[in-house]
Parts: sequence; C-alpha cells; structure tokens
Amino acid sequence: MTPEFAFLAAVLISLQLQLHFADALGSASTVAVAYGTATVCGITAGKQGQRIQCYRGHQVISVLPHVSFEAISGGQRFFCGLRTGGFSLHCWETDAGFQPKRVYHSTAFPLTDLAVGDAQVCAREVISGRARCWRGTERDGSLFPSPDAALQFQTVTSGSGFSCGILKKNRTILCWGSNGIGSKIQSQFGNLSMTSLVAGESHVCGLTASSGVLICKGNNNAGQLEVPIKSAHEYIDLALGASFTCATRQKNGAVSCWGGGAEELNIQNNINFNDSFELITAGSDMLCGLKTSNLIIMCWSKANKNSPVVLPLGMIIPGQCVQDPCSSCGIYPNSAFLCDGSGNICKSCQRELPIAVPLPKKPESQSIPGSSSPTRARNRLTLAFLIVGAVGVLAGACTILFCISNCLALCSSSNTADNLELKTIPQALMENYSGRSFSLMELAAATSNFSSENKIGGGSFGVVYKGELSDGTEVAIKRGENNEKSEDPQEKQDAFTSELAALLRLNHKHLVGMVGYCQENDERILVYEYMPNGSLHDHLHNRAHTNEDGLLLNTWKMRIKIALDAARGIEYLHNYAVPPIIHRDIKSSNILLDGNFTARVSDFGFSLMRQPDISTETTVGGTIGYIDPEYYVSRISTSKSDVYGLGIVLLELLTGKKAVFRDSGSRSPVTLVEFAVARIGGGELWDVVDKTVRTPEMKEVEAVEIVAYTAMHCVSLEGEERPNITDIVGNLEKAFALCNGDLCENL
Ligand SMILES: *[C@@H]1O[C@H](CO)[C@@H](O)[C@H](O)[C@H]1NC(C)=O
Ligand SMILES: *[C@@H]1O[C@H](CO)[C@@H](O)[C@H](O)[C@H]1NC(C)=O
Ligand SMILES: *[C@@H]1O[C@H](CO)[C@@H](O)[C@H](O)[C@H]1NC(C)=O
Repeated sequence: MTPEFAFLAAVLISLQLQLHFADALGSASTVAVAYGTATVCGITAGKQGQRIQCYRGHQVISVLPHVSFEAISGGQRFFCGLRTGGFSLHCWETDAGFQPKRVYHSTAFPLTDLAVGDAQVCAREVISGRARCWRGTERDGSLFPSPDAALQFQTVTSGSGFSCGILKKNRTILCWGSNGIGSKIQSQFGNLSMTSLVAGESHVCGLTASSGVLICKGNNNAGQLEVPIKSAHEYIDLALGASFTCATRQKNGAVSCWGGGAEELNIQNNINFNDSFELITAGSDMLCGLKTSNLIIMCWSKANKNSPVVLPLGMIIPGQCVQDPCSSCGIYPNSAFLCDGSGNICKSCQRELPIAVPLPKKPESQSIPGSSSPTRARNRLTLAFLIVGAVGVLAGACTILFCISNCLALCSSSNTADNLELKTIPQALMENYSGRSFSLMELAAATSNFSSENKIGGGSFGVVYKGELSDGTEVAIKRGENNEKSEDPQEKQDAFTSELAALLRLNHKHLVGMVGYCQENDERILVYEYMPNGSLHDHLHNRAHTNEDGLLLNTWKMRIKIALDAARGIEYLHNYAVPPIIHRDIKSSNILLDGNFTARVSDFGFSLMRQPDISTETTVGGTIGYIDPEYYVSRISTSKSDVYGLGIVLLELLTGKKAVFRDSGSRSPVTLVEFAVARIGGGELWDVVDKTVRTPEMKEVEAVEIVAYTAMHCVSLEGEERPNITDIVGNLEKAFALCNGDLCENL
C-alpha cells in the first residue's frame, strides 16, 4: 500500500464513521448533500462529462443515467439534478439504490435554479421566470405549493418546509410554504431589494442590491443571523445549515462561519484560513466546500471535529458548463479542460480574485519531490494546470489535444485522490505536439510518396491517404490537389484555411481529431487521426469492401449508437465550438468509425466560421441526396442544413438504402426522402426498415420508432420545422437507452 493510499483509506474509514447526518438546504450548485443517508454528491469535471458521483459509506457511486448535469441540490434522503440544458429534472432516493426518477421533462420550458429543501423540489422556468415546485408534503398532506404562475423570479432557494425567491420586477423577497417560517422571513425582508438569496433550515441570507452587504433573516436561536462583517462586497458564496451560516470572503475565498452550529462543527479551529474555496454548500450540521487549489470536495461534520474530510470524488466542476463566451466576467481558468470541451464555466462577476490555480510563467520541473503529506495531491494538480496553462499559450489547441488524450486519462477520471498523480508528464508527447507542423518530406515518407495504394478516399478538397509516421502512428493525410488543374484555386485555399482554423479549435470524442498539418510551398496538407474501421457509408452500402459480414450493423442498438455518436459530434460543432461551426457536408461517408467503433464526424472542408445567429452565405457545399432543399433556393447554409443531412443519415441507418438509389420498380433514381418519409408518416415504418437487421425486441421497436420520427422531422422541407441538434441528441439518447435495456422507465 502506498502512503497516499494508506492516507486515503484512513480518510475513508473515518468518513464512514463520521458522516451521520447531513441536511442539504439551499440553492443549485455542483455539490449536494443529502440528509439522513450521509451522502455527498458532485458533478465531475473533465473526461467523465459532468456526470454525478456520490460518496456514501465506503463507496463512490456513479449515478445513472450517465449523461451530463448542470446543477444538483440535496434534500432529506434524496437529491435532484438538472440535466444540461435544463430540459429534465431527475431525483434519486439515496437510501433506495439511487434509482433515477424523472420529475420533470419538457423541451419547451427549460428549468434553472434547482433548489431542493428538506422534501420539496423547486426550480425556475428559464423563459417565463415562473417558480415551480414538486414533491414535498405540507402539514395538511397536500403537495408543496408553487407560487402564482404570473410571478417572475430572478432566483429561488429552499429551506425546511419553505421556499423563497427574489422577484424579478423589484428584487424583493417572496416566500411560500405553509409552516409559517416563510411568511415570517418574507415580512422581515420587507421592501429590501436583494441580488442573492440562500436558505438554511429556518433562516435565509443574501446580499443587498443597494450595497452588497450580507444580511440574514429568520430564526436566530443560535446567533446564525449575526453577520460579523457588515461592509459592502465582503462575502460572495453562502451556505446555511440548521443553526449556522458560512460565507466565502470575496478577497481570498476563505470561509468564515458563525452561529452555534458552526461552533459545534468546530470549523473555526479546523479550517486553514489560507485555503480558498470556489463554492460551499451546507447540510443541517455539515459544511462542504470545493477547494480552489484542486477542486476537490472537503467536508466538516459534527462528529468529525478534529479535522475536515477530503472526499474521494475526484475533481468537481466549480460552476455550470455553459455554451457562452462569458463576455461579462470572463472564463474560469482551464474551462475547456474542466468541461471536457463542452462549454465554458463563467467566472463569478462578484469575485475580485478567483485565486485560480496559480500558473507560473513556465514549467520549471517535471518531477515533484517525494512526500507523503496530504498537500501533495494539490501540488500535482497545480502542475497539471500549470502545464495546460503555460504551454497552452504557446501551442494553442494542440496542447489541449495533448491534454484531453493524456492528462485527463490520468487525472480527471479518478475516483480516488491517489489517482490524481501527474508526476511524470511524458516528455515525448510534449515534443510531438510542438512538432505538429509536419514537413512535406515526412508526409511523403509516411505515404510511400503519396502512392495510389495508400489512397483511401477523397474529401471536400484533395485526396486522402493512409500514412504511417516514423514513430509508427497511423494517420489519415489529406492532400490538396494543387498539381491538378484546379477550377478555382482560391476556393481550395479558402477551404484549407477554414478547415485548419476550425480543426485547431475542435476537440471532441465524436469528431475526428487533427494531428497536424503541413503548409510548405504550395502544399496544403492536413493530418488526422486514422479511423481504422472506415466510414458508415461503406459499412451500410459496400459491405463487400469492408471485409466483414454485416455483423457490426446487424443490431438496432449499434445503429442507434452510431446515430447518437454522430449527432453528439454535430451538437458540439453547433453549440459548443467557439465560434459555432456549420459542417455543411453531413453524410454517411463523413461519419467514420474509430478503433472502438465509436462514430466520429469528419471532414470540415466546408466549414466556415459563423457568428451566432447569423447564417453563412456560401457558394458551394453539399453532396447530392443530402443537400438541404432550402439551400437550393437560398444558397444559405444554416445549422438546420446539417440537421437535414443528419436526417438523411438516420434514414440510411433505418432503411439500409443510399441517399439516392435506383429502386427496382423505377428507372430514374429515387431519393431516400421520396422513398421513406411518406411511408413512415403513413405508419408503414416496418415495411421500409432494413431487413438485414435482427428483428427488434420489444423495447427496440419503440426505439426504432423514435429514430424514424426524428429522421422525418429532420428532413422537413422548411428549416424552421426541423428540430435543433440538442433535441435530436435527446431523442437518440432516449432511443439508445431503450435498446440498452437500462433506465427505460426513467429516462
Ligand atoms: C414598502 O413599499 C410599499 C409600496 O412601495 C410601501 O407602501 C410601504 O410603506 C413600504 N414599506 C416599508 C416598510 O418601507
Ligand atoms: C414588489 O412586487 C411585488 C409583486 O408584484 C409586490 O407585491 C410588492 O409590493 C412590490 N414591492 C415594492 C417595494 O414595490
Ligand atoms: C497562511 O499563510 C501565511 C502567510 O503566507 C503563513 O505564514 C501561515 O503559516 C499560513 N497558515 C497555514 C495554516 O498554512
């Protein structure tokens, strides 16, 4: 057993004994505490994609479904999470196997500000500002009430048997729930206008709008309302328990607590005031915080007065990953790393000094001296950030490439603190990345001088070759055809520049990654990861050439998985790439399968940068059979053109037919849309599906129907009627879950 592991084991054992009772109260966060079952949960950072992990007893529990969440909040023996986008709300009973239960789902009215009280679950509709509550029981046995639907809120928070919110109109406080605490608190706030609000068991604190001073109202039986420093902008984040209040100081992120409960927790004597926290969250007699230096959860509990406990949940995101340039207050450091490429975390506007993990000017040392002190893990993390940050400035996107494929595997998928080791950064990999600009000689050597035997296909410009670099890495090399008579050299140059710029920014597991490029003399060459399992088009339509007997695509589960993977790649391009990217040539031959048969979208030759909400005018684009009919008329590609292309791919997966094919009954070619859409709409789906796929099981029937209806909508004539990519991903996730046999009831 390594010393670190022994340390960790000791922590786990003490945690097991000492987490008895915790009641999470308050507002949406990325850390939640559930009362009665000693459970603390967090939304994981990095490669795991904002999933929820909980710590309970000796165990780290990976909470299903494995999809991304933006916020969680805990209550009595349960906690809830809001899925990314706010379209569904799930809750889990922590003493009943963590089975997910969906409380809310709507693609029309997304939610935000999830606030779980002791038993009620409240949230705010993004569009209307209306506050809604579920579950919970009042003393008369009725469900917990929601406020008047006409009232618009800026934020909501939940305590024990009451919830409160800040009204949008005049920023005053309104509370509801029938146990009397809420109305008392509301009247104590009176006409005061507030900018933030967090509830404890029977008290509420917030910052005033006029001066940013922290004030507390409600039950003061243990001095929990006695804010020690009454100056403006002293505090930012708040965590309230049964009889204590904690707040982080704006200037340094240090935690300060008051009220009788804080003394019982012995927080004052047990906290390093030099430690900065990104956020804090409280249970009725417990406080947890996310340490700035390593984004690991640390908790103080009543039974554990001697020292705080470090939870083995790995890195937790310090805020929601959003698709937003964060123009108001900037992007949280290392956001791309923490959100694993799907968005940014915006910095808090209130915080002067985020004390982000320090980034010294250059990495001075690659090794860390041996030491078994608990601060070691922190140093390693700092080093990880240091290398991402410092080298990132020099090498740009390639460092992120390096990091996603290497660092994350080491540090962020960890369940335990000792997995956080990053002491040896492979020097060879670093060198690889600084050498991503290839020479023509190297690439000629890799492809036997661009021989026709190595040719594996064509792209939106030039020819694609299979190559082997001197270190043995297999790559796909796309070479611009500058030797040939080119119809429009300028167009090719533009395609190259646009693809290069786009690719350098992209990093996603469902996109084919770029390894490097060569821009020597007139040569324009891009080097990609090699996808050993070919294209979806070949698997579907040229089975003879793919040297496999159709086994791969003979289940609906696999077909739906491929559709979902591809949709996620496109979703990344549309919603998370900065600036957003329209692919403009989505087709089955641009959906490639990697070594694990994970589908990845390739070929960004037509991609142009576009400003959000501004369509791109184009002069060329698309492949017969896949082109958006609106594009013929308008010559404008929009994100809905990609949706149309994906719709055709879905129809190919369903029917096994090409986008344009010769039907036995007709002489002229038939498009897949003509062939399939009316029949699917007319209830004849099962007449047009590919008969080579194994007969679907019960659940799969529904899954295939979901895919079919999604495909139909994707190929609507008018772009406006087509779903957006996020809705498509949602549908395909649902279909895939049905096939997968897990969570059918709950998703
Ligand atoms: C609160 O505002 C209302 C209407 O603006 C006013 O009538 C009332 O006197 C105010 N109450 C206090 C305590 O300031
Ligand atoms: C704020 O708005 C609420 C809801 O319309 C209203 O009841 C309250 O009196 C207003 N307060 C002030 C100070 O205007
Ligand atoms: C906090 O920082 C100060 C100054 O850097 C240092 O002297 C002190 O020892 C630190 N305290 C702890 C508990 O680490």
